[in-house]
Amino acid sequence: MTAAAESLLRADTVDAFYGQARILFSVSLEVHRGEVVALLGRNGAGKSTTLKSLMGLVRPRGGKVQFAGRRIDGAAPYAICRQGLGYVPEERRVFADLTVEENLEVGRRPRREDAPHWTPERLYALFPNLGRMRGRRGGEMSGGEQQMLTIARTLMGNPRAVLLDEPSEGLAPVIVDQMAEAIRELKREGLTLLISEQNLRFAAAITDRAYILEKGQICYENSMAGLLADEPARREYLAV
Ligand SMILES: Nc1ncnc2c1ncn2[C@@H]1O[C@H](COP(=O)(O)OP(=O)(O)OP(=O)(O)O)[C@@H](O)[C@H]1O
Ligand SMILES: [Mg+2]
Repeated sequence: MTAAAESLLRADTVDAFYGQARILFSVSLEVHRGEVVALLGRNGAGKSTTLKSLMGLVRPRGGKVQFAGRRIDGAAPYAICRQGLGYVPEERRVFADLTVEENLEVGRRPRREDAPHWTPERLYALFPNLGRMRGRRGGEMSGGEQQMLTIARTLMGNPRAVLLDEPSEGLAPVIVDQMAEAIRELKREGLTLLISEQNLRFAAAITDRAYILEKGQICYENSMAGLLADEPARREYLAV
């Protein structure tokens, strides 16, 4: 197998529930090392639940999840994080009373052989906005800046792969463009990413391949170019 085709993250027939309510139905997906993959789907399709199931925040009741050659379903989120899977939730989580610099320090973990190595200086180059406000407190930043800081703090852990939940959501258009450029740079660095999105245009600008979720099931899989050329599928599953 070539390095490019190596599977880094893989879900096999994952089922997930909130209480008695079944949310995910046999979800299978795969992300290869160095790939940037989109998980698309309308409101309530199960995108966030899928990412939470991979991260151990929702414990899968069926199926299995493998990351970097190990089974991680059933493991605690902190243990999964330690194995190098980063997670940026939909709701930004910065420490409001800490400065940008201090927020980054909270995320610092040892470097890994097989993942890009991040320092605050490299992250300020990736997100120039953050570089201009190192001393600002998290609570005094805009939503887009907080989103960037949350991603940057996750990168301070030198993850092998990152799950990003709707990074473009609620951002002003100019910030969306900056976010897309930062994500393309992460890909150039060799980072593996699985990105949940409702915004097809944004996803198309940054991802190689896409899965579409509908009512908790993967209903479509294609290259991003293939999806963009497939108008019936876009209309049926994404209404665009
Ligand atoms: N904590 C919860 N308890 C019960 N049901 C939930 C919970 N969180 C989500 N759900 C339900 O699970 C389904 C999938 O939700 P999920 O948040 O995964 O969707 P999504 O694709 O991320 O949607 P969005 O685009 O709005 O973020 C929805 O029907 C939602 O109402
Ligand atoms: Mg969601």
